Amino acid sequence: MDVEKPFFVTICWSNFTRPSYTVYFLILTVISISILQITSKSSVFPSTWVIGSSKSESEENTSFLMDPGTCSWFYKKEESPRKMVMSIRDFGGIGDGNTSNTLAFRKALEYLKGFDKKGGSQLNVPQGKWVTGSFNLTSNFTLFLEFGAVILGSQNPEEWPVIEALPSYGRGRERLGGRHISLIHGDSLSNVVITGENGTIDGQGRMWWDLWWNRTLVHTRGHLVELMNSHNILISNLTFRNSPFWTIHPVYCSNVVIKGMTILAPLNSPNTDGIDPDSSTNVCIEDCYIESGDDLVAVKSGWDQYGIKMARPSSNIVVRKVSGTTPTCSGVGIGSEMSGGIFNVHIENLHVRNSAAGVRLKTDIGRGGYITNITITNITLDRVKTPFRFSRGANDHPDDGWDPKALPIVKGIYISNLVSIGTIRAPSLEGIAESPFEGICLKNISLLGLRPSLKWQCEFVKGIAVQVSPEPCQQLLSDNNNSSFWCQNL
Ligand SMILES: *[C@@H]1O[C@H](CO)[C@@H](O)[C@H](O)[C@H]1NC(C)=O
Ligand SMILES: *[C@@H]1O[C@H](CO)[C@@H](O)[C@H](O)[C@H]1NC(C)=O
Ligand SMILES: *[C@@H]1O[C@H](CO)[C@@H](O)[C@H](O)[C@H]1NC(C)=O
Ligand SMILES: *[C@@H]1O[C@H](CO)[C@@H](O)[C@H](O)[C@H]1NC(C)=O
Ligand SMILES: *[C@@H]1O[C@H](CO)[C@@H](O)[C@H](O)[C@H]1NC(C)=O
Ligand SMILES: *[C@@H]1O[C@H](CO)[C@@H](O)[C@H](O)[C@H]1NC(C)=O
Ligand SMILES: *[C@@H]1O[C@H](CO)[C@@H](O)[C@H](O)[C@H]1NC(C)=O
Ligand SMILES: *[C@@H]1O[C@H](CO)[C@@H](O)[C@H](O)[C@H]1NC(C)=O
Ligand SMILES: *[C@@H]1O[C@H](CO)[C@@H](O)[C@H](O)[C@H]1NC(C)=O
Ligand SMILES: *[C@@H]1O[C@H](CO)[C@@H](O)[C@H](O)[C@H]1NC(C)=O
Ligand SMILES: *[C@@H]1O[C@H](CO)[C@@H](O)[C@H](O)[C@H]1NC(C)=O
Ligand SMILES: *[C@@H]1O[C@H](CO)[C@@H](O)[C@H](O)[C@H]1NC(C)=O
Repeated sequence: MDVEKPFFVTICWSNFTRPSYTVYFLILTVISISILQITSKSSVFPSTWVIGSSKSESEENTSFLMDPGTCSWFYKKEESPRKMVMSIRDFGGIGDGNTSNTLAFRKALEYLKGFDKKGGSQLNVPQGKWVTGSFNLTSNFTLFLEFGAVILGSQNPEEWPVIEALPSYGRGRERLGGRHISLIHGDSLSNVVITGENGTIDGQGRMWWDLWWNRTLVHTRGHLVELMNSHNILISNLTFRNSPFWTIHPVYCSNVVIKGMTILAPLNSPNTDGIDPDSSTNVCIEDCYIESGDDLVAVKSGWDQYGIKMARPSSNIVVRKVSGTTPTCSGVGIGSEMSGGIFNVHIENLHVRNSAAGVRLKTDIGRGGYITNITITNITLDRVKTPFRFSRGANDHPDDGWDPKALPIVKGIYISNLVSIGTIRAPSLEGIAESPFEGICLKNISLLGLRPSLKWQCEFVKGIAVQVSPEPCQQLLSDNNNSSFWCQNL
């Protein structure tokens, strides 16, 4: 992200094996920190967190029991199988890797939409190579990729039509105006499953990366899968490859589970983030392997004045057992678009290899919003240059309308049980002078391989570090300004 990116970059991260139940439970308990007290008048702070709750569908029982070992409390399984099950072949599809199936997919979805309220439907994609342009999903619907099924993204940009910019961004992320639609898209849906027997969705993004590299891109690139304003989503057991842009983008969604996914893109491909929960709540990402040219996972919530105005936070985000590689970006990123606020993020069992950074928190003057109650634990970093890094921005704004008085608030960042092997750079924690980052709590952190001459870089941060080696910066060594209050349970 620091590499040739004129715009914002997100974070990635990964991890592996299942944590023991007891440990997870202990950690959660330990972290039940008292109540966050907010000093700023400008930002609306959450004071409670109801696990698995959702306000969007009143007819459902929205209080799920929390099961610390799985994501299942974020996704409500359909009670019975889908009533209508059809194959893309029934709509004239040809899986020869050459024929366009755009019309077949669009016809199929138009037809199956008729079953939304009649028991739901499933579209099977058999073994074969199915070239298609963008199509929209429907509700109470399963897209199922059988073993050996490969959906290939069309190489004709017109089959990725331009749609409106997201209101929380005010414009396309890369270019002014609208943005290309995602290959697989959905708006205002509920109960959607995208799954199968490790079938593949390949965006064939090289054409788009070329447009980006050779500076002829007119509109912001599309995602591989984007769901907007949707509820109760499961994406599992598939391989996603070569997305033009961020790979999976749930935005304004609730109750999303992304599990057992393999997400691959060339390590130099631009902005091919793995999974970007954006202004979404109750999102669980588990058991994923991600290898890409940008952050493995990046949590976001809108951009400057547009995100502030929309005020849609990302909250209750769990990232667990994710592993992977990103040579120029990070395992997990929080921000830099965070203007709607980000709170209650739990990241554990992340395993990042051969990457630029483990965890990165990014914000900027003009963002407003807040990042609070972020727990990061049991992190293994193997030849990751910078284990963690907080940065205050790169002057990356949507337009001249951003408010220089809109300062982000960063409070309550807990990092524990982190081991880094082959560390090259010391952590760099840079807060904002007018809005220092507070309640930074570090515990049980070993950075191995770091040259003794390399010191931590800290500015405008307040917090405490215990059992951290090599020795952290002065700002984290004395109990400055009530930090022990924030860190008392760590
Ligand atoms: C920590 O994560 C590693 C994988 O990164 C896993 O093997 C281990 O079981 C985890 N430990 C705990 C206590 O969760
Ligand atoms: C909703 O679920 C909770 C927890 O499973 C249960 O205690 C409660 O009785 C349920 N409420 C309704 C209306 O079904
Ligand atoms: C691919 O499809 C195009 C038209 O859609 C056709 O002209 C061409 O012969 C096909 N190529 C192969 C190898 O089937
Ligand atoms: C999905 O199915 C459920 C149960 O049949 C139904 O109540 C609901 O209205 C359906 N959703 C949509 C968007 O049609
Ligand atoms: C898909 O939905 C978008 C709006 O969300 C719309 O602009 C587009 O035309 C739809 N595409 C198809 C093929 O219906
Ligand atoms: C799914 O396919 C990918 C790519 O071929 C492979 O790396 C991965 O191991 C497979 N996952 C499973 C669970 O078989
Ligand atoms: C830029 O890349 C696109 C996609 O590969 C290609 O069609 C176009 O000719 C390239 N333009 C220039 C100026 O290189
Ligand atoms: C993924 O696939 C495995 C093996 O086929 C299956 O047991 C599991 O239920 C699937 N999980 C999801 C969430 O689809
Ligand atoms: C912080 O987030 C965790 C989940 O990540 C949650 O269990 C806890 O209740 C939250 N703390 C507060 C004070 O909201
Ligand atoms: C410190 O962290 C390491 C690595 O995650 C873990 O194995 C160890 O148990 C932790 N020690 C304590 C006292 O929690
Ligand atoms: C402690 O923090 C508060 C609010 O952030 C600030 O008003 C106060 O001046 C600080 N005190 C010291 C001693 O740093
Ligand atoms: C520390 O801050 C908390 C919350 O802001 C407050 O309740 C507590 O009294 C403070 N303690 C001290 C010693 O200032």
